[in-house]
Amino acid sequence: MRTSVVIIGGGPAGLMLSQLLNRAGISTVVLERRSRDYVLSRIRAGVLEHGTVEMMHRAGIADRMKREGHPHAGCYLSTEHGKFRVDFDQLCGQSVMVYGQTEVTQDLYAGQDALGATVVHEALEVTPHDIDGDPYVTYVKDGETRRIDCDFIAGCDGFHGVSRKAIPAAKKHELERVYPFGWLGILSRTAPAADELIYANHPRGFALASMRNPQLSRYYIQVPLDDSPDKWSDDAFWAELKRRLPEDVADSTETGPSIEKSLAPLRSYVCAPMRFGKMFLAGDAAHIVPPTGAKGLNLAMSDVHYLSEGLIAHYKRGDSGGLDGYSDRALTRVWRAIRFSWWMTSILHRFPEQDDFDQKMQEMELENLRELDAARQAMALNYVGLPF
Ligand code: FAD
Ligand code: DHB
Repeated sequence: MRTSVVIIGGGPAGLMLSQLLNRAGISTVVLERRSRDYVLSRIRAGVLEHGTVEMMHRAGIADRMKREGHPHAGCYLSTEHGKFRVDFDQLCGQSVMVYGQTEVTQDLYAGQDALGATVVHEALEVTPHDIDGDPYVTYVKDGETRRIDCDFIAGCDGFHGVSRKAIPAAKKHELERVYPFGWLGILSRTAPAADELIYANHPRGFALASMRNPQLSRYYIQVPLDDSPDKWSDDAFWAELKRRLPEDVADSTETGPSIEKSLAPLRSYVCAPMRFGKMFLAGDAAHIVPPTGAKGLNLAMSDVHYLSEGLIAHYKRGDSGGLDGYSDRALTRVWRAIRFSWWMTSILHRFPEQDDFDQKMQEMELENLRELDAARQAMALNYVGLPF
């Protein structure tokens, strides 16, 4: 079998790339290791930058988001001195959209079905070959090994995928920062604690009050890395969350059984370049940000924007400039998001080795945000998303 682009990984990056290429008449095959139900059951991102929202429109899959998504024109930061609002709309004329990653993925699958695009689920032992020459990909489906020849491979298989590992060690430069804590998250069928997200800095550790819709809330608390979700009863989670949220909010926060509880480690990671031969990396396959700042899914989308433009120019106009410039263009934006997520993480969490000086600097960062329009504006511009 032959196709133009084999896309490894059917998460948001892989599906969006397939969607944009198929709409441009370019053939693709998506190879996804898991079942569709499994992919749709992973609870992850909740906040879409305005650029991601526009991309959903361009991809022809924005109807449900328009009806069910919730635009947010600001968020709150909370400290020991109370909470204050960062007004994105007033500071930079933009807002974000609260719409879950599971919904985005569901809309992408529906879009793929409508276009008749090929998504192979439960594709095992996916292996890219000859990525610096005449590329092809092999995989096992229903116990049988299959081969797809292609012009290009898009590695959209997340942080633990096979694509990045196929690039020789001497040809990639990896930079990493692992943070000494994780996020314990729960989803619950309760009304959100506030009208907008609250990012809380508290002596007991960071907390985030987020949401999916008016009946579905998402909360996170900073916990030690060696903690485990099984050790946290729902009651213990709610009690700890309430200690860390502003008092007036905590008093009125509705509690209920969790319908999902999971622990996420925090890491910053970049692999450069994002291309080797005929293989291009996009999304978590190439970089990871800590979740503070809600950048991961949005960065996957900006990579896909640049990569789809490059591939479309190559196939439609014989112009390979976009593909040749892909890695540099994507990495410019990636590094800005890496900086922003690192900064948000460093001002909001308690670090095990934080001394009095570090503590004071953290307080001053937050005071700066509370007092200075210019500081809030810099945060707002990054939070709503830098232009693609
Ligand atoms: P993935 O979603 O990881 O998709 C990769 C796909 O490849 C998966 O479906 C996987 O099954 C498949 N795959 C893996 N290996 C193979 C293989 N060998 N063969 C075939 N298929 C394979 N981001 C935001 O922008 N905003 C947020 O608010 C936000 N909140 C988050 C909260 C949490 C708790 C977490 C954990 C993450 C959050 N993120 C957020 C990050 C975001 O979820 C990811 O950045 C996003 O999923 C990246 O998409 P992707 O398609 O690159 O990778
Ligand atoms: C969510 C996750 C984030 O990392 C974030 O910064 C905001 C919201 C969420 O899952 O709702």
